[in-house]
Amino acid sequence: MIAILGAGSLGRLWAASLNPGRAAFIARPAEPPRAAIRYRFRPFNGPESIIEVPWLRAGDNPELILVTTKAGDTFGAIAGVIDRFPQSSPIILFQNGLGSQQTVTAHWPYRPILAASTTEGANRPEPDLLVHAGTGDTWIGPMTKSAGSYLNKAVALLSAGGLTIHPEQTIRQRLWQKLIINAGINPYTAILDCPNGDILASSLYRDTIRGLCRELSDLMRASGQGEETPEALRHRIETVARKTARNTSSMRADVLKGRTTEINFINGYLARLGKDFGIRTPVNQMLTEQVQQLSSH
Ligand SMILES: NC(=O)c1ccc[n+]([C@@H]2O[C@H](COP(=O)([O-])OP(=O)(O)OC[C@H]3O[C@@H](n4cnc5c(N)ncnc54)[C@H](OP(=O)(O)O)[C@@H]3O)[C@@H](O)[C@H]2O)c1
Repeated sequence: MIAILGAGSLGRLWAASLNPGRAAFIARPAEPPRAAIRYRFRPFNGPESIIEVPWLRAGDNPELILVTTKAGDTFGAIAGVIDRFPQSSPIILFQNGLGSQQTVTAHWPYRPILAASTTEGANRPEPDLLVHAGTGDTWIGPMTKSAGSYLNKAVALLSAGGLTIHPEQTIRQRLWQKLIINAGINPYTAILDCPNGDILASSLYRDTIRGLCRELSDLMRASGQGEETPEALRHRIETVARKTARNTSSMRADVLKGRTTEINFINGYLARLGKDFGIRTPVNQMLTEQVQQLSSH
């Protein structure tokens, strides 16, 4: 049994991909018992089907716990249920950005905690419809010392669902690489309210991207993430923006739906890191503040 904390888009994608009966959602503490969650699943290819996922029962001992809450909800969500599970239960964190993973591992350093970086795309255009909008890859790697010995088992359990999973010993590096791309695309799309490709011609982007990439390069070096020139980072950001030109970023989608964005775990995380290292990050700070203002309206 694989337990999933966070019955949103990504959680439902995992539940749908695992064989029937293999997944259960973890309810919030003190949530009254409810009927199983039922939804329509529209796969990337093929016909729609109905998925029914039960709630985990008291005393169930999952082989794996997937945490698919938004970054800002993650610590609280885990803290509310973790005492139900033995110290040896492996936990995989699926959050975008950085910062939430560090908070969780700092709080439970002796638990086997892994992190995932995924390029799968899922969304819920209607409450009871889950669309697998884009297929991709998922990398999983250990965040705490005790997690190393659970990696292969976790990869095997999740691969059985048919999604493409890779073990990744240097998962922090991979999370950083995704963070760079998210930091260089998402806030612009949210502020400008445009698809990814359209940011490139905007004056906001053109006036600030050099400064942003300088900050990203300095922060990577200070964090031991290697040397990458600002120009190389800009090239990578723009390649992805062009490849995904018509896509709406999750940050823009959150703003449009009036939901809290993950800006505090993307540019906000980088601005906080800058303070720790004594590196000035005016562009990350400006982008963070502008997106925060959008969500508060
Ligand atoms: N969707 C994707 O394609 C995708 C791809 C890559 C990475 N990610 C990352 O994966 C994470 C989840 O994304 P998502 O798109 O699945 O978000 P989402 O659709 O908002 O799902 C999050 C779910 O967590 C639930 N939740 C919040 N607090 C909880 C708690 N204390 N206990 C139990 N459940 C709780 C929410 O319930 P309520 O709605 O009731 O609050 C919601 O159903 C994010 O960090 C995102 O960046 C997503």
